[in-house]
Amino acid sequence: MSDHRNMALAYVQENQKEFLARMKKLISIPSVSTDPERKGDIQKAAEWLESELKDLGMTRVEIFPTPRHPIVYAEDLSAGKDAVTVLIYGHYDVQPEDPINEWNSDPFTPTIDGDNLYARGSTDMKGQIIACFSALEAIRETGDLPVNVKFLIEGEEEIGGSYIETFIKENPELLACDFFLNPDTGMQAPDLPTITYSLRGIAYFELRIQGPKQDLHSGTFGGAIHNPAQVMTDLLSGLHDKKGRVTLKGFYDKVLPIDADERDEISKLPINEEFYLEQGGVKALWGEEGYTAVERTGARPTLEINGLYSGFIGEGQKTVLPAYAMAKVSTRLVANQDPSEVYDQFKTYLKENTPDTVTWDLKKLAGDFPSQSDRKSKWIDAYLKAAEAAWGKRPIFMREGGSVPVVVHIQQTLGVDSVNIGFALPSDNMHGPNEKIHLPTFYKGIEALVHFFFNL
Ligand code: BES
Ligand code: MN
Repeated sequence: MSDHRNMALAYVQENQKEFLARMKKLISIPSVSTDPERKGDIQKAAEWLESELKDLGMTRVEIFPTPRHPIVYAEDLSAGKDAVTVLIYGHYDVQPEDPINEWNSDPFTPTIDGDNLYARGSTDMKGQIIACFSALEAIRETGDLPVNVKFLIEGEEEIGGSYIETFIKENPELLACDFFLNPDTGMQAPDLPTITYSLRGIAYFELRIQGPKQDLHSGTFGGAIHNPAQVMTDLLSGLHDKKGRVTLKGFYDKVLPIDADERDEISKLPINEEFYLEQGGVKALWGEEGYTAVERTGARPTLEINGLYSGFIGEGQKTVLPAYAMAKVSTRLVANQDPSEVYDQFKTYLKENTPDTVTWDLKKLAGDFPSQSDRKSKWIDAYLKAAEAAWGKRPIFMREGGSVPVVVHIQQTLGVDSVNIGFALPSDNMHGPNEKIHLPTFYKGIEALVHFFFNL
């Protein structure tokens, strides 16, 4: 090997403690993007990244304000015109920590137990950001960077409707690159390097059913006035049929079938029904007839009720006929579905099925297209070799059920592909209580990235 990869890999081995300490610092900042009271922490996280990126030797580092949360941009183009330019993505915002009572340790005090570090944002995705920083530091401290590097780190991925789309459209030259590296994804198991080749899109709605002008006595009015909570549950229960299919008219029209080869490949993935039963802690699985759990969550579209509210939910009883009911409903989309078409389908459903005893309002909160990535690009090839060097195993390919909206914006606006390789594990409790990151996987991930950057 003519490069200094072995020195960089040795640096990784020797500096694990420092990398860990750095990750802990970032995780300790409670940058919850939905919470207006955490606006200061969002800013703090952005500034912390700015200073880290400067320490990392980035030649330009800038915080771009947006109408909501700032975007951090950095670059080091010292590898020169002939070298590959990679645009590395990250989001420094995290999900809210609730339900707080179910955490075994403070969500923003990184707590190590065995091989895992527990904290909100550890695996989604501050650990992944630090893995990228660490790999570059190892290379930089032992020689020159073999690639040009740009960073695009946003602060509002977790809330949807992110400003990043506009930012990309307004700054194509700033962000120009050969490909996009998205580490906001995962691996199927600790010893199983994984490449994600599709991410689902999302259409997220808030539905409100308005009944009487105010809460009423349920004895005096119940039976004469249609209860909006009842209307809501009727409507929601009609959204799936007996076969577990979504009933919105046209919902499946553009969905591409899974071909036989892919089904065969999916069936060989280590994640199976057992995993869903165990990780979910349920008695039995549910879903669209004719598909396995892995197919349902990766290759098929779904519809979920994310939250429901109506009437009295306090302790004890209160006899009330509520004035309104509210539900948060999201759909996960696959190629070639269009979030705005799903919005129209939902409105049609409501027009056709809502009784005229109430009024309804449907708000579209987020709409992002699904994305596909080429499995045969040279960037993927470079990662296949890198992961093989780090884990001694050839990566497997998977479809991700979750969404990373930025990917499709990059593909469409910059015309480059995305390599989705992150190190989160299915058991990391992303978005739930006791989120964690598996430290041995984090360290291996840094090694894989070192190989990757050299292979490019
Ligand atoms: N990191 C996740 C996406 C993901 C989930 C990757 C599971 C791998 C495994 C990302 O931060 C996320 O949660 N995205 C949101 C986007 C939404 C709010 C628009 C999601 O998927 O719910
Ligand atoms: Mn997330």
